Amino acid sequence: MKKRIIILGSTGSIGKNALKIVNHLKDEFELVAIAANSNVKDLIEQINTFKPEGAGIFDERHHKNLSENVNSKCRIFSGQRGIRALVREHEADIVVNSIVGAAGLLPTLDSIESGKSVALANKESLVVAGKLVMAEAKKNNVEILPVDSEHSAIWQCLIGENYSNIKNIILTASGGPFLKRNIDTYESITVEEALDHPNWDMGNKITIDSATLMNKGFEFIETHWLFGIPGDRIKIMIHPQSIVHSMVEFNDGSIKAQIGIPDMRIPIQFALTYPERKKGTVDNRSLFNSMQLEFEQPDLEQYPCLRLAIQALKVSGTAPAVLNAANEMAVNAFLRKEIKFTEIPVLIERTVKNHDVIDDPILEDYLEADRWARDYFKNEVVRNGN
Ligand SMILES: NC(=O)c1ccc[n+]([C@@H]2O[C@H](COP(=O)([O-])OP(=O)(O)OC[C@H]3O[C@@H](n4cnc5c(N)ncnc54)[C@H](OP(=O)(O)O)[C@@H]3O)[C@@H](O)[C@H]2O)c1
Repeated sequence: MKKRIIILGSTGSIGKNALKIVNHLKDEFELVAIAANSNVKDLIEQINTFKPEGAGIFDERHHKNLSENVNSKCRIFSGQRGIRALVREHEADIVVNSIVGAAGLLPTLDSIESGKSVALANKESLVVAGKLVMAEAKKNNVEILPVDSEHSAIWQCLIGENYSNIKNIILTASGGPFLKRNIDTYESITVEEALDHPNWDMGNKITIDSATLMNKGFEFIETHWLFGIPGDRIKIMIHPQSIVHSMVEFNDGSIKAQIGIPDMRIPIQFALTYPERKKGTVDNRSLFNSMQLEFEQPDLEQYPCLRLAIQALKVSGTAPAVLNAANEMAVNAFLRKEIKFTEIPVLIERTVKNHDVIDDPILEDYLEADRWARDYFKNEVVRNGN
């Protein structure tokens, strides 16, 4: 029987790659529904190509345009409620959540509560509310299938292993475009330079997060929740080639790594076909042409966002939700050229420091912390000068 798939964020970098896989493995998958934020043009094209039962657009202003330009058999959903209903009301086996940002949290919970496995690209779901998401998944007997290449690597290294034998998890990081750049020149980093990632082709937000290494900080938090390993046993290693996607060190001294060329189709496909493997579309032949593998410790002075994320996990509670929201605000401000690259960590830290952490939050506390951080950032941090 074909696996029934929903893709949230189908017009984004991960979403489009997920569609390629659905198309490549037509006999394995049936695309049930797709959703996006506001890119109605690409969404219409996808609906007309894949003919899903349902489609959702977050920005309600596009509802009419969407309805008028697709086959009437496709049920149209809009707004936040609409996206949530799309997830809950369709029968499906797996929801690929490739929405960007904290907006992905509620759809992750909707997928879990309606009994659907989540192929999770939206790492922000786990950064904001990892404890709740993992507890809900356990309660509903639903699998969280990692899509992030690092977490897919760790997961693949752990198949058949007893988690109690894990000594350390070694999370690799490319170091982004500014690894070798003199830190004294960071103030003049432009948006265009920050968007030019050396190894990966991704959406704008995660590309900036990769340049500041906040992305690695988020992955550090994600690793903790996905694999239940405390922060002091998650080691981060800069590996500029992005060939070793991450490693697991076991108690007996053995280290397993998962390697391959940096191409998100590999981890996305594995999440969708798991526990099986199917023929892929990625050509690994170039891998051994000039394989030189380098590893070095990250410098937390060079990457203050990484330090902030490590601290946020130590504090836990609502602290990572505030970190995430402040980061979204800062990255958007940088992309709009309103703040400098070096102001991103400064403004995030100021927001995090002013938050009263709730230690054992329920869903409403996480959502309130997210709202508070965005308001604080807008009204206090930016308006009062930095
Ligand atoms: N790209 C990668 O290689 C990569 C690797 C690992 C993890 N991830 C994670 O995957 C997620 C997506 O990254 P990306 O690079 O694919 O981002 P992206 O290219 O910016 O795509 C984001 C997608 O989310 C949609 N979206 C945004 N807000 C939405 C909402 N409220 N409701 C429904 N759809 C919404 C966007 O729709 P519109 O197009 O209409 O705006 C778009 O389809 C992020 O959490 C990222 O950290 C990405």
